[in-house]
Amino acid sequence: MIKTESLRKSFSGKTVLDGIDVEISDGEIFGVMGLSGSGKSTFIKCLVRLVNPDGGRIIVDGRDILKVEGGVEMARFRRKFGYLFQEGALFDSLNVLENVCFGLRYLTDISPGEYARVAREKLELVGLKGVENMRISELSGGMKKRVALARAIAAEPKYMLYDEPTTGLDPSLTKKICRLIKEMQDRLGITSIIVTHKVEVAFSLSDRIAILMNGKFKVLGTPEEIRNSTSPIVKEFTDRSECF
Ligand SMILES: Nc1ncnc2c1ncn2[C@@H]1O[C@H](COP(=O)(O)OP(=O)(O)OP(=O)(O)O)[C@@H](O)[C@H]1O
Ligand SMILES: [Mg+2]
Repeated sequence: MIKTESLRKSFSGKTVLDGIDVEISDGEIFGVMGLSGSGKSTFIKCLVRLVNPDGGRIIVDGRDILKVEGGVEMARFRRKFGYLFQEGALFDSLNVLENVCFGLRYLTDISPGEYARVAREKLELVGLKGVENMRISELSGGMKKRVALARAIAAEPKYMLYDEPTTGLDPSLTKKICRLIKEMQDRLGITSIIVTHKVEVAFSLSDRIAILMNGKFKVLGTPEEIRNSTSPIVKEFTDRSECF
């Protein structure tokens, strides 16, 4: 379980997260929506301490991770998480297969002889076959996204954090990725937090959705509850969000 209490973060005096309180259960798919610049990426970066919060608590499986100091415990804790970065964050100097294998080396106990097989399997899951030896610079944006996704899921972590997993993908690939995220929940019991601008993605996948606005989760509920909500915040969000 992931739980945050009064989570706060400012950058140069500008408050981005202003007290986030949330509990995300094991096995849940939790969607985070919000306008550009509202702090969605900052929120999930805080969860793995890629960004250090200014205050509050983040409890993961009973441990306050803001109190973790040693590198060894931090590394063990990070192993629980797979992270799909908004920007992909692939290594240009490595080919596709090497990029996917990279996570296996650092995040699992899989024997090196198995890396290539597991990596190929994950690439196939995201609809990429026969591109193992290509360089990252030779790939389209959507292909890069899927390589990053294959790398993020390769270690089959307990928690997956997806930052805009379907941006740049066409509708059929978007559906494929959504199915994959759902399948990882069903088959492996993976808990996912999905940051997305795409309303259809959030609504079709999430068990619950939060809308981040002015540093807080202003609205939180099931897709059904949010759809039926008469909250002015939902209305304000939907009025301003071109893709709702
Ligand atoms: N490392 C940083 N240093 C300074 N400011 C930052 C940093 N990271 C984020 N910010 C600021 O924090 C705010 C929230 O950024 P964040 O990337 O979390 O937004 P977002 O909701 O993910 O936006 P988008 O939908 O465009 O990805 C922005 O104003 C951004 O400029
Ligand atoms: Mg972002």
